Amino acid sequence: MKGSIAKRLGVMFALAVVLITSISAVTLRCSLKRTLVGQMHNELVLRHSVLDPVLSKYDSPEFWSVLLQKLDGLTPSDERVRYWIVVDNPAYSYGGPMPDGRDWSERSDGFDNIKIQGRDRPMVVLLKIIPALGSRPELRFIVGLDSTPFTEILDNFTETLILISAVGMVLVALLGYWIARFGLGPVRRLSRQANSLPPGDSKQRLDTGELPSELQELAVSFNGALARQEAAWCQLEGFNANVAHELRTPLTNLIGQTQVALAHERDTGELQDLLQSNLEELERMGAIVNDMLFLAGAERGQRATELSDVSLYEEALKTVEYLEPSLIGKHLSVSIKGDMRVRIDRRLFHRSLANLLQNAVRYASPASTITVSLVDAGLQAVVSVSNAGEPIDSEHLQHLFERFYRADEARARSDAHHGLGLSIVRAVASMHGGEVFAKSEDGVNTFGFSLTSEAARRAIDPPEPTRAFAQVTH
Ligand SMILES: Nc1ncnc2c1ncn2[C@@H]1O[C@H](COP(=O)(O)OP(=O)(O)OP(=O)(O)O)[C@@H](O)[C@H]1O
Ligand SMILES: [Mg+2]
Repeated sequence: MKGSIAKRLGVMFALAVVLITSISAVTLRCSLKRTLVGQMHNELVLRHSVLDPVLSKYDSPEFWSVLLQKLDGLTPSDERVRYWIVVDNPAYSYGGPMPDGRDWSERSDGFDNIKIQGRDRPMVVLLKIIPALGSRPELRFIVGLDSTPFTEILDNFTETLILISAVGMVLVALLGYWIARFGLGPVRRLSRQANSLPPGDSKQRLDTGELPSELQELAVSFNGALARQEAAWCQLEGFNANVAHELRTPLTNLIGQTQVALAHERDTGELQDLLQSNLEELERMGAIVNDMLFLAGAERGQRATELSDVSLYEEALKTVEYLEPSLIGKHLSVSIKGDMRVRIDRRLFHRSLANLLQNAVRYASPASTITVSLVDAGLQAVVSVSNAGEPIDSEHLQHLFERFYRADEARARSDAHHGLGLSIVRAVASMHGGEVFAKSEDGVNTFGFSLTSEAARRAIDPPEPTRAFAQVTH
Protein backbone atom coordinates (compact mmCIF):
# COMPACT_ATOMS: atom_id res chain seq x y z
CA MET A 1 0.00 0.00 0.00
CA LYS A 2 1.51 3.32 -1.05
CA GLY A 3 0.97 6.83 0.38
CA SER A 4 1.85 8.58 3.59
CA ILE A 5 1.22 6.75 6.88
CA ALA A 6 0.54 10.13 8.56
CA LYS A 7 -2.16 11.01 6.02
CA ARG A 8 -3.69 7.57 6.28
CA LEU A 9 -3.79 7.79 10.08
CA GLY A 10 -5.31 11.30 9.87
CA VAL A 11 -8.12 10.03 7.62
CA MET A 12 -8.65 6.98 9.86
CA PHE A 13 -8.92 9.17 12.97
CA ALA A 14 -11.41 11.43 11.17
CA LEU A 15 -13.53 8.44 10.13
CA ALA A 16 -13.45 7.14 13.70
CA VAL A 17 -14.67 10.54 14.94
CA VAL A 18 -17.48 10.59 12.34
CA LEU A 19 -18.57 7.13 13.44
CA ILE A 20 -18.47 7.87 17.17
CA THR A 21 -20.14 11.30 16.91
CA SER A 22 -22.85 9.96 14.56
CA ILE A 23 -23.78 7.19 16.99
CA SER A 24 -23.71 9.62 19.94
CA ALA A 25 -25.71 12.26 18.02
CA VAL A 26 -28.44 9.82 17.00
CA THR A 27 -28.69 8.48 20.58
CA LEU A 28 -28.80 11.97 22.12
CA ARG A 29 -31.33 13.22 19.58
CA CYS A 30 -33.65 10.26 20.24
CA SER A 31 -33.37 10.82 23.98
CA LEU A 32 -34.04 14.58 23.67
CA LYS A 33 -37.01 13.94 21.37
CA ARG A 34 -38.51 11.52 23.92
CA THR A 35 -38.08 14.12 26.68
CA LEU A 36 -39.67 16.91 24.60
CA VAL A 37 -42.63 14.76 23.55
CA GLY A 38 -43.05 13.80 27.22
CA GLN A 39 -43.06 17.50 28.17
CA MET A 40 -45.76 18.29 25.58
CA HIS A 41 -47.89 15.40 26.77
CA ASN A 42 -47.47 16.50 30.39
CA GLU A 43 -48.60 20.01 29.56
CA LEU A 44 -51.70 18.68 27.76
CA VAL A 45 -52.52 16.33 30.64
CA LEU A 46 -52.11 19.27 33.05
CA ARG A 47 -54.52 21.51 31.13
CA HIS A 48 -57.07 18.67 30.92
CA SER A 49 -56.74 18.01 34.63
CA VAL A 50 -57.71 21.66 35.34
CA LEU A 51 -60.52 22.03 32.81
CA ASP A 52 -62.09 18.54 32.63
CA PRO A 53 -63.65 18.71 36.15
CA VAL A 54 -65.20 22.12 35.36
CA LEU A 55 -66.70 20.87 32.07
CA SER A 56 -67.96 17.70 33.72
CA LYS A 57 -69.73 19.62 36.51
CA TYR A 58 -71.95 21.95 34.45
CA ASP A 59 -74.78 21.28 32.02
CA SER A 60 -76.95 24.39 31.74
CA PRO A 61 -76.56 26.25 28.38
CA GLU A 62 -76.41 29.67 30.17
CA PHE A 63 -73.51 28.68 32.28
CA TRP A 64 -71.98 26.94 29.29
CA SER A 65 -71.66 30.21 27.30
CA VAL A 66 -69.69 31.72 30.23
CA LEU A 67 -67.49 28.70 30.23
CA LEU A 68 -66.81 28.99 26.52
CA GLN A 69 -65.76 32.64 27.01
CA LYS A 70 -63.32 31.43 29.62
CA LEU A 71 -61.86 29.07 27.01
CA ASP A 72 -61.47 32.10 24.67
CA GLY A 73 -59.54 33.80 27.42
CA LEU A 74 -57.34 30.78 27.91
CA THR A 75 -56.44 30.67 24.20
CA PRO A 76 -53.29 32.82 23.66
CA SER A 77 -53.25 35.28 20.76
CA ASP A 78 -50.55 33.30 18.87
CA GLU A 79 -52.83 30.23 19.22
CA ARG A 80 -49.97 28.24 20.67
CA VAL A 81 -52.65 26.46 22.72
CA ARG A 82 -56.09 25.71 21.29
CA TYR A 83 -59.29 24.13 22.59
CA TRP A 84 -62.05 22.30 20.79
CA ILE A 85 -65.30 20.82 22.07
CA VAL A 86 -66.69 18.35 19.53
CA VAL A 87 -70.42 17.62 20.00
CA ASP A 88 -73.54 17.43 17.80
CA ASN A 89 -75.37 20.19 19.69
CA PRO A 90 -73.85 23.51 18.47
CA ALA A 91 -74.74 25.19 21.83
CA TYR A 92 -72.06 23.11 23.52
CA SER A 93 -69.45 22.99 20.76
CA TYR A 94 -66.33 25.16 20.72
CA GLY A 95 -63.44 25.98 18.43
CA GLY A 96 -65.20 25.21 15.14
CA PRO A 97 -64.51 22.15 12.97
CA MET A 98 -61.25 20.30 13.56
CA PRO A 99 -58.57 21.81 11.26
CA ASP A 100 -57.47 18.47 9.83
CA GLY A 101 -60.95 17.89 8.34
CA ARG A 102 -61.36 14.47 9.98
CA ASP A 103 -64.44 13.41 11.93
CA TRP A 104 -63.55 13.46 15.65
CA SER A 105 -67.08 12.74 16.97
CA GLU A 106 -66.44 9.02 17.31
CA ARG A 107 -62.87 9.22 18.59
CA SER A 108 -61.88 7.85 21.95
CA ASP A 109 -59.45 9.28 24.53
CA GLY A 110 -55.84 9.73 23.47
CA PHE A 111 -53.00 11.75 21.95
CA ASP A 112 -52.77 12.62 18.28
CA ASN A 113 -51.04 15.03 15.91
CA ILE A 114 -52.94 17.34 13.61
CA LYS A 115 -51.71 19.48 10.78
CA ILE A 116 -52.83 23.11 10.94
CA GLN A 117 -52.83 25.20 7.80
CA GLY A 118 -50.18 27.96 7.82
CA ARG A 119 -48.02 26.21 10.41
CA ASP A 120 -44.93 24.18 9.54
CA ARG A 121 -45.15 21.94 12.57
CA PRO A 122 -48.14 19.84 13.64
CA MET A 123 -50.17 20.44 16.79
CA VAL A 124 -50.08 17.73 19.43
CA VAL A 125 -53.60 17.15 20.82
CA LEU A 126 -55.13 15.21 23.71
CA LEU A 127 -58.77 14.15 23.50
CA LYS A 128 -60.80 13.35 26.59
CA ILE A 129 -64.47 12.29 26.57
CA ILE A 130 -66.61 14.24 29.07
CA PRO A 131 -69.67 12.10 29.93
CA ALA A 132 -73.23 13.49 29.40
CA LEU A 133 -74.80 15.34 32.32
CA GLY A 134 -78.49 16.26 32.53
CA SER A 135 -79.51 18.04 29.30
CA ARG A 136 -75.87 18.21 28.14
CA PRO A 137 -74.80 15.45 25.73
CA GLU A 138 -71.49 13.61 25.86
CA LEU A 139 -68.61 15.90 24.79
CA ARG A 140 -65.19 15.38 23.22
CA PHE A 141 -62.86 17.94 24.76
CA ILE A 142 -59.62 18.39 22.83
CA VAL A 143 -56.64 20.47 23.94
CA GLY A 144 -53.99 21.21 21.30
CA LEU A 145 -50.41 22.37 21.78
CA ASP A 146 -48.21 23.79 19.00
CA SER A 147 -45.10 21.61 18.69
CA THR A 148 -43.03 24.35 16.98
CA PRO A 149 -41.05 25.49 20.08
CA PHE A 150 -40.24 21.89 20.95
CA THR A 151 -39.20 20.88 17.45
CA GLU A 152 -37.13 24.06 17.18
CA ILE A 153 -35.18 22.98 20.26
CA LEU A 154 -34.68 19.58 18.63
CA ASP A 155 -33.60 21.12 15.31
CA ASN A 156 -31.15 23.48 17.00
CA PHE A 157 -29.73 20.63 18.97
CA THR A 158 -29.31 18.54 15.80
CA GLU A 159 -27.64 21.38 13.93
CA THR A 160 -25.24 21.98 16.83
CA LEU A 161 -24.38 18.28 16.92
CA ILE A 162 -23.68 18.22 13.16
CA LEU A 163 -21.50 21.31 13.50
CA ILE A 164 -19.56 19.84 16.45
CA SER A 165 -19.07 16.57 14.49
CA ALA A 166 -17.83 18.36 11.38
CA VAL A 167 -15.44 20.62 13.29
CA GLY A 168 -14.32 17.63 15.42
CA MET A 169 -13.71 15.58 12.31
CA VAL A 170 -11.54 18.24 10.67
CA LEU A 171 -9.66 18.96 13.91
CA VAL A 172 -9.05 15.29 14.63
CA ALA A 173 -7.91 14.65 11.05
CA LEU A 174 -5.42 17.54 11.27
CA LEU A 175 -4.32 16.63 14.79
CA GLY A 176 -4.11 12.94 13.84
CA TYR A 177 -1.92 13.83 10.86
CA TRP A 178 0.31 15.98 13.06
CA ILE A 179 0.51 13.36 15.83
CA ALA A 180 1.31 10.63 13.30
CA ARG A 181 4.02 12.79 11.72
CA PHE A 182 5.43 13.50 15.14
CA GLY A 183 5.18 9.81 16.14
CA LEU A 184 6.91 8.73 12.94
CA GLY A 185 9.86 11.01 13.63
CA PRO A 186 12.05 8.08 14.77
CA VAL A 187 11.36 6.30 11.45
CA ARG A 188 12.61 9.35 9.54
CA ARG A 189 15.65 9.57 11.79
CA LEU A 190 16.31 5.85 11.23
CA SER A 191 16.10 6.23 7.48
CA ARG A 192 18.43 9.27 7.62
CA GLN A 193 20.84 7.16 9.65
CA ALA A 194 20.61 4.29 7.15
CA ASN A 195 21.18 6.72 4.26
CA SER A 196 24.23 8.19 5.91
CA LEU A 197 26.00 4.83 6.34
CA PRO A 198 29.30 5.25 4.45
CA PRO A 199 29.53 2.98 1.39
CA GLY A 200 33.05 1.64 1.96
CA ASP A 201 32.73 0.82 5.66
CA SER A 202 31.03 -2.56 6.09
CA LYS A 203 31.53 -2.43 9.88
CA GLN A 204 29.06 0.43 10.38
CA ARG A 205 25.72 -0.40 12.04
CA LEU A 206 22.55 1.49 12.93
CA ASP A 207 22.43 2.88 16.46
CA THR A 208 19.53 1.01 18.12
CA GLY A 209 19.91 2.56 21.58
CA GLU A 210 17.66 5.59 21.09
CA LEU A 211 14.98 3.85 19.07
CA PRO A 212 11.44 3.11 20.32
CA SER A 213 10.72 -0.58 20.91
CA GLU A 214 8.65 -0.93 17.70
CA LEU A 215 11.64 0.08 15.58
CA GLN A 216 14.26 -1.80 17.58
CA GLU A 217 13.34 -5.06 15.89
CA LEU A 218 13.55 -3.51 12.42
CA ALA A 219 16.92 -1.90 13.16
CA VAL A 220 18.27 -5.13 14.69
CA SER A 221 17.17 -7.08 11.58
CA PHE A 222 18.75 -4.43 9.36
CA ASN A 223 21.98 -4.66 11.37
CA GLY A 224 21.78 -8.46 11.04
CA ALA A 225 21.52 -8.09 7.25
CA LEU A 226 24.54 -5.74 7.32
CA ALA A 227 26.48 -8.26 9.40
CA ARG A 228 25.66 -11.03 6.92
CA GLN A 229 26.73 -8.78 4.07
CA GLU A 230 29.96 -8.04 5.89
CA ALA A 231 30.58 -11.75 6.49
CA ALA A 232 29.91 -12.53 2.82
CA TRP A 233 32.16 -9.67 1.80
CA CYS A 234 34.95 -10.84 4.10
CA GLN A 235 34.54 -14.39 2.80
CA LEU A 236 34.80 -13.14 -0.75
CA GLU A 237 37.87 -11.06 0.05
CA GLY A 238 39.48 -14.00 1.86
CA PHE A 239 38.56 -16.26 -0.99
CA ASN A 240 40.16 -14.00 -3.58
CA ALA A 241 43.30 -13.78 -1.46
CA ASN A 242 43.34 -17.58 -1.10
CA VAL A 243 42.93 -18.23 -4.81
CA ALA A 244 45.71 -15.75 -5.62
CA HIS A 245 47.89 -17.33 -2.94
CA GLU A 246 47.30 -20.88 -4.18
CA LEU A 247 48.01 -19.99 -7.79
CA ARG A 248 51.06 -17.86 -6.97
CA THR A 249 53.28 -20.78 -5.92
CA PRO A 250 52.89 -22.87 -9.11
CA LEU A 251 53.15 -19.71 -11.21
CA THR A 252 56.35 -18.65 -9.43
CA ASN A 253 57.74 -22.14 -9.98
CA LEU A 254 56.83 -22.04 -13.65
CA ILE A 255 58.40 -18.62 -14.16
CA GLY A 256 61.53 -19.49 -12.14
CA GLN A 257 62.13 -22.79 -13.92
CA THR A 258 61.56 -21.24 -17.33
CA GLN A 259 63.92 -18.33 -16.57
CA VAL A 260 66.65 -20.72 -15.38
CA ALA A 261 66.19 -22.88 -18.46
CA LEU A 262 66.44 -19.87 -20.77
CA ALA A 263 69.61 -18.55 -19.09
CA HIS A 264 71.79 -21.21 -20.81
CA GLU A 265 71.79 -23.41 -23.86
CA ARG A 266 69.77 -26.60 -23.02
CA ASP A 267 69.78 -29.92 -24.79
CA THR A 268 66.54 -31.65 -25.77
CA GLY A 269 66.52 -33.96 -22.71
CA GLU A 270 66.78 -31.01 -20.30
CA LEU A 271 64.06 -29.12 -22.11
CA GLN A 272 61.82 -32.20 -22.03
CA ASP A 273 62.35 -32.49 -18.26
CA LEU A 274 61.48 -28.80 -17.89
CA LEU A 275 58.35 -29.15 -19.97
CA GLN A 276 57.37 -32.23 -17.95
CA SER A 277 57.80 -30.33 -14.70
CA ASN A 278 55.93 -27.31 -16.08
CA LEU A 279 53.12 -29.59 -17.18
CA GLU A 280 52.76 -30.92 -13.65
CA GLU A 281 52.51 -27.39 -12.27
CA LEU A 282 49.99 -26.47 -14.96
CA GLU A 283 47.95 -29.56 -14.17
CA ARG A 284 47.86 -28.59 -10.50
CA MET A 285 46.72 -25.10 -11.43
CA GLY A 286 44.10 -26.58 -13.74
CA ALA A 287 42.88 -28.84 -10.91
CA ILE A 288 42.51 -25.86 -8.56
CA VAL A 289 40.59 -23.86 -11.15
CA ASN A 290 38.31 -26.84 -11.87
CA ASP A 291 37.65 -27.36 -8.17
CA MET A 292 36.86 -23.66 -7.79
CA LEU A 293 34.41 -23.79 -10.68
CA PHE A 294 32.77 -26.88 -9.20
CA LEU A 295 32.40 -25.19 -5.79
CA ALA A 296 31.02 -22.02 -7.40
CA GLY A 297 28.38 -24.09 -9.19
CA ALA A 298 27.31 -25.80 -5.93
CA GLU A 299 27.15 -22.43 -4.19
CA ARG A 300 24.84 -21.10 -6.89
CA GLY A 301 22.48 -23.90 -5.84
CA GLN A 302 23.30 -26.40 -8.58
CA ARG A 303 21.81 -29.84 -7.82
CA ALA A 304 23.05 -33.27 -8.75
CA THR A 305 21.32 -34.24 -12.00
CA GLU A 306 22.87 -37.45 -13.30
CA LEU A 307 21.12 -39.62 -10.75
CA SER A 308 21.12 -43.38 -10.77
CA ASP A 309 19.83 -46.01 -8.38
CA VAL A 310 22.89 -47.56 -6.69
CA SER A 311 23.96 -49.67 -3.74
CA LEU A 312 26.13 -47.45 -1.56
CA TYR A 313 28.16 -50.46 -0.42
CA GLU A 314 29.10 -51.38 -3.99
CA GLU A 315 30.02 -47.80 -4.84
CA ALA A 316 32.07 -47.40 -1.65
CA LEU A 317 33.87 -50.65 -2.44
CA LYS A 318 34.83 -49.34 -5.89
CA THR A 319 36.26 -46.15 -4.33
CA VAL A 320 38.22 -48.15 -1.77
CA GLU A 321 39.58 -50.42 -4.50
CA TYR A 322 40.66 -47.39 -6.49
CA LEU A 323 42.60 -46.07 -3.47
CA GLU A 324 44.03 -49.45 -2.48
CA PRO A 325 47.62 -48.65 -3.49
CA SER A 326 47.77 -45.71 -1.08
CA LEU A 327 46.86 -47.98 1.87
CA ILE A 328 49.91 -50.16 1.51
CA GLY A 329 52.57 -47.72 2.70
CA LYS A 330 51.03 -47.28 6.16
CA HIS A 331 49.70 -50.85 6.43
CA LEU A 332 46.12 -49.60 6.68
CA SER A 333 42.93 -51.59 6.23
CA VAL A 334 39.43 -50.39 5.36
CA SER A 335 36.14 -51.84 6.52
CA ILE A 336 32.79 -50.89 5.02
CA LYS A 337 29.72 -51.24 7.23
CA GLY A 338 26.07 -51.11 6.21
CA ASP A 339 24.37 -50.67 2.88
CA MET A 340 21.32 -49.10 1.26
CA ARG A 341 20.07 -48.22 -2.15
CA VAL A 342 19.85 -44.56 -3.02
CA ARG A 343 19.40 -42.47 -6.11
CA ILE A 344 22.50 -40.30 -6.35
CA ASP A 345 25.09 -38.96 -8.74
CA ARG A 346 27.58 -41.82 -8.66
CA ARG A 347 30.52 -39.74 -9.94
CA LEU A 348 30.04 -37.09 -7.25
CA PHE A 349 29.70 -39.74 -4.55
CA HIS A 350 33.05 -41.30 -5.58
CA ARG A 351 34.71 -37.92 -5.61
CA SER A 352 33.52 -36.98 -2.16
CA LEU A 353 34.20 -40.40 -0.55
CA ALA A 354 37.64 -40.44 -2.17
CA ASN A 355 38.42 -37.05 -0.62
CA LEU A 356 37.43 -38.34 2.83
CA LEU A 357 39.40 -41.56 2.36
CA GLN A 358 42.49 -39.69 1.10
CA ASN A 359 42.42 -37.52 4.22
CA ALA A 360 41.88 -40.58 6.43
CA VAL A 361 44.83 -42.38 4.80
CA ARG A 362 46.98 -39.29 5.31
CA TYR A 363 46.08 -38.78 8.96
CA ALA A 364 45.39 -42.37 10.17
CA SER A 365 47.75 -43.97 12.68
CA PRO A 366 49.93 -46.57 10.91
CA ALA A 367 48.52 -50.11 10.76
CA SER A 368 45.06 -48.99 11.85
CA THR A 369 41.66 -49.62 10.27
CA ILE A 370 39.68 -46.94 8.46
CA THR A 371 35.93 -47.48 8.77
CA VAL A 372 33.41 -46.41 6.15
CA SER A 373 29.89 -46.41 7.66
CA LEU A 374 26.77 -46.30 5.51
CA VAL A 375 23.83 -45.61 7.82
CA ASP A 376 20.17 -45.41 6.87
CA ALA A 377 18.81 -42.42 8.81
CA GLY A 378 15.22 -42.32 7.66
CA LEU A 379 15.03 -39.83 4.84
CA GLN A 380 18.80 -39.59 4.53
CA ALA A 381 21.75 -41.84 3.92
CA VAL A 382 24.66 -40.93 6.19
CA VAL A 383 28.14 -41.73 4.93
CA SER A 384 31.09 -41.34 7.29
CA VAL A 385 34.77 -42.20 7.30
CA SER A 386 36.56 -42.74 10.65
CA ASN A 387 40.22 -43.20 11.33
CA ALA A 388 42.34 -43.47 14.44
CA GLY A 389 44.61 -40.46 14.66
CA GLU A 390 45.69 -37.35 16.48
CA PRO A 391 42.72 -35.57 18.07
CA ILE A 392 41.62 -32.44 16.17
CA ASP A 393 41.15 -29.23 18.10
CA SER A 394 37.48 -28.18 18.24
CA GLU A 395 38.64 -24.71 17.18
CA HIS A 396 39.80 -26.20 13.84
CA LEU A 397 37.03 -28.77 13.57
CA GLN A 398 34.32 -26.21 12.81
CA HIS A 399 36.35 -24.62 9.99
CA LEU A 400 37.74 -27.67 8.22
CA PHE A 401 34.98 -27.70 5.59
CA GLU A 402 35.82 -24.12 4.56
CA ARG A 403 37.73 -23.58 1.35
CA PHE A 404 41.51 -23.54 1.69
CA TYR A 405 41.35 -24.20 5.43
CA ARG A 406 44.06 -26.50 6.75
CA ALA A 407 44.59 -27.33 10.39
CA ASP A 408 48.26 -28.09 9.91
CA GLU A 409 49.13 -25.31 7.51
CA ALA A 410 52.87 -25.96 7.17
CA ARG A 411 52.62 -29.68 6.52
CA ALA A 412 49.67 -29.38 4.21
CA ARG A 413 51.40 -26.76 2.05
CA SER A 414 54.55 -28.78 1.74
CA ASP A 415 52.37 -31.68 0.58
CA ALA A 416 50.84 -29.39 -1.99
CA HIS A 417 47.36 -29.98 -0.65
CA HIS A 418 45.12 -27.00 -1.26
CA GLY A 419 42.51 -27.46 1.47
CA LEU A 420 39.70 -27.94 -1.03
CA GLY A 421 38.92 -31.64 -0.43
CA LEU A 422 36.42 -31.17 2.41
CA SER A 423 34.75 -28.17 0.77
CA ILE A 424 34.11 -30.38 -2.24
CA VAL A 425 32.57 -32.98 0.12
CA ARG A 426 30.30 -30.23 1.46
CA ALA A 427 29.39 -29.13 -2.07
CA VAL A 428 28.50 -32.71 -3.07
CA ALA A 429 26.36 -33.10 0.08
CA SER A 430 24.50 -29.85 -0.64
CA MET A 431 23.97 -30.89 -4.27
CA HIS A 432 22.15 -33.92 -2.85
CA GLY A 433 20.23 -31.89 -0.24
CA GLY A 434 22.49 -33.13 2.55
CA GLU A 435 24.95 -31.78 5.09
CA VAL A 436 28.45 -32.47 6.39
CA PHE A 437 29.77 -33.18 9.88
CA ALA A 438 33.06 -33.82 11.66
CA LYS A 439 33.93 -35.07 15.12
CA SER A 440 37.02 -36.04 17.01
CA GLU A 441 36.39 -38.36 19.96
CA ASP A 442 38.47 -40.96 21.84
CA GLY A 443 41.32 -40.84 19.35
CA VAL A 444 38.99 -41.43 16.40
CA ASN A 445 38.35 -38.70 13.82
CA THR A 446 35.17 -38.97 11.81
CA PHE A 447 34.24 -36.93 8.76
CA GLY A 448 31.03 -37.53 6.88
CA PHE A 449 28.11 -36.30 4.83
CA SER A 450 24.47 -37.05 4.33
CA LEU A 451 22.60 -37.56 1.07
CA THR A 452 18.93 -37.08 0.47
CA SER A 453 17.33 -38.52 -2.57
CA GLU A 454 13.80 -38.17 -1.25
CA ALA A 455 11.21 -40.52 -2.71
CA ALA A 456 13.76 -42.51 -4.67
CA ARG A 457 15.87 -43.54 -1.70
CA ARG A 458 15.01 -46.76 0.06
CA ALA A 459 16.80 -49.11 2.40
CA ILE A 460 17.54 -52.59 1.14
CA ASP A 461 14.71 -54.66 2.42
CA PRO A 462 15.36 -57.06 4.08
CA PRO A 463 18.97 -55.97 4.90
CA GLU A 464 21.48 -58.47 3.66
CA PRO A 465 23.44 -59.56 6.75
CA THR A 466 26.41 -60.71 4.71
CA ARG A 467 26.84 -57.16 3.46
CA ALA A 468 26.62 -55.54 6.86
CA PHE A 469 30.35 -55.82 7.25
CA ALA A 470 32.90 -56.08 4.53
CA GLN A 471 36.58 -55.73 4.82
CA VAL A 472 39.36 -54.87 2.47
CA THR A 473 42.57 -55.76 4.16
CA HIS A 474 46.11 -55.18 2.97
N1 LIG B 1 40.95 -37.56 8.84
C1 LIG B 1 41.52 -36.44 9.24
N2 LIG B 1 42.27 -36.40 10.36
C2 LIG B 1 42.83 -35.26 10.78
N3 LIG B 1 42.73 -34.07 10.12
C3 LIG B 1 41.99 -34.06 9.00
C4 LIG B 1 41.35 -35.21 8.49
N4 LIG B 1 40.70 -34.88 7.37
C5 LIG B 1 40.92 -33.56 7.16
N5 LIG B 1 41.72 -33.05 8.14
C6 LIG B 1 42.16 -31.66 8.28
O1 LIG B 1 41.30 -30.88 7.48
C7 LIG B 1 42.05 -30.07 6.59
C8 LIG B 1 41.24 -29.83 5.35
O2 LIG B 1 41.07 -31.02 4.63
P1 LIG B 1 40.81 -30.95 3.10
O3 LIG B 1 40.60 -32.30 2.59
O4 LIG B 1 39.76 -29.94 2.85
O5 LIG B 1 42.15 -30.31 2.55
P2 LIG B 1 43.54 -31.00 2.32
O6 LIG B 1 43.39 -32.46 2.49
O7 LIG B 1 44.52 -30.27 3.15
O8 LIG B 1 43.78 -30.63 0.80
P3 LIG B 1 43.15 -31.34 -0.48
O9 LIG B 1 42.07 -32.23 0.00
O10 LIG B 1 42.67 -30.21 -1.31
O11 LIG B 1 44.27 -32.06 -1.11
C9 LIG B 1 43.30 -30.85 6.36
O12 LIG B 1 44.33 -29.99 5.95
C10 LIG B 1 43.56 -31.42 7.73
O13 LIG B 1 44.18 -30.47 8.54
MG1 LIG C 1 41.96 -33.62 1.49
